[in-house]
Amino acid sequence: MIVLAVASGTSADGLDVGAVRFARDELDPATLVADVLDTWTDPWPPGVRDDVLALLPPATTTAAALCAADQAVGQAVAGAARAALERVPGVDLVVSPGQTVFHDVRDGVCLGTMQVGQPAWAAEATGLPVVSDLRARDVAAGGHGAPLAGVLDRLWLGGDDVRVALNLGGIANVTVVGPGVQAPAHDTGPANCLLDVVATRALGRPYDADGALAASGRVDERLLARLLAHPYFALPAPKSTGRELFSAAWLDDVVDGEPWPDVAATLVELTAVTVADAVAPHRPREVVASGGGTANPVLVAALARRLGDVPLVTSDAHGLPADGKESVLWALLGWLAWHQVPVSTGPHPARVLGRITPGHAPVVLPPAGEAPRRLVVGSPQLTEVVAR
Ligand SMILES: Nc1ncnc2c1ncn2[C@@H]1O[C@H](COP(=O)(O)OP(=O)(O)O)[C@@H](O)[C@H]1O
Ligand SMILES: [Mg+2]
Repeated sequence: MIVLAVASGTSADGLDVGAVRFARDELDPATLVADVLDTWTDPWPPGVRDDVLALLPPATTTAAALCAADQAVGQAVAGAARAALERVPGVDLVVSPGQTVFHDVRDGVCLGTMQVGQPAWAAEATGLPVVSDLRARDVAAGGHGAPLAGVLDRLWLGGDDVRVALNLGGIANVTVVGPGVQAPAHDTGPANCLLDVVATRALGRPYDADGALAASGRVDERLLARLLAHPYFALPAPKSTGRELFSAAWLDDVVDGEPWPDVAATLVELTAVTVADAVAPHRPREVVASGGGTANPVLVAALARRLGDVPLVTSDAHGLPADGKESVLWALLGWLAWHQVPVSTGPHPARVLGRITPGHAPVVLPPAGEAPRRLVVGSPQLTEVVAR
């Protein structure tokens, strides 16, 4: 089965597209083989990103604006999915998790989470079934619906050694995997989202390319201490967060006239400290990083320094492209939804996640099979050689 994922993260920087071919290993059906056929990022159609950002807290909005964004994101996903079908033949299923516009966590409990991006547009444009709404059921079952990365990380990196999977998106999340490890995947706090705010203000650019602004500043220890005083960092896992908590308004409250380069340098250090604090107690063999933050050399250097003797590698070392790993996660969640495999994100009950919008043909689900216990990343080239 070939699954096509089209998704946008907290950063809302573009549409990450990924096509993954999944097959159960013939000799061991508990092993799911994933061939990453292609991953890339499409830009948003003009205006959509601004319309999405205009919805985010602390802005207030209207039902009309929410409705418009739901269609605009859904249509953008539909356009990207349709174009992807030209590039990757044989797609069976589309996954569209949508754009998160609100993630409502209070007193450690997730009360709701809202994504926009009406999936009917992609179903109409591609004729294929579309899996969407991958978070809500986990929330209803007592979870946070986020981060979902642990579902992939445990199948992919689980083995004899303790490892930490780290995604540096708008928000950073970690999953500790290894023998006997029970810790739930959780968000550690901001990675790029506040840096992007500073880059927009200081440079008029959407992000601090290659960390140039941060590299020109110095870490301000007093500012760092004030940032670290945010109550989120002291909360126990499982926990999740978003732009509601780590907003431009919060940054404005904490920053006290420090120059932008120092603010950027200090935000980089904030990410490095909070990730390293989450990693340290587990003494892993390595940290396996992915997400846009891995393209920021200043962030990677700060993190490596704070991790001390724990090696930092990117997910490429384990077969998944650092800038496309999230697409593989969404594709996997789509495959699991289609095969009705319950998914666990914490101590609450595992549930089948997602909602299916039929394509042009009626939905006929395969028989619910055994839950995969491991995911092996295959090589498309190798598979082709074997097939020949
Ligand atoms: N060359 C780069 N230099 C610095 N930062 C980068 C670079 N490339 C990407 N990023 C950062 O990565 C972010 C996007 O990361 P991504 O993993 O897509 O996050 P999300 O899942 O939240 O959308 C951008 O907003 C930017 O901050
Ligand atoms: Mg992104």
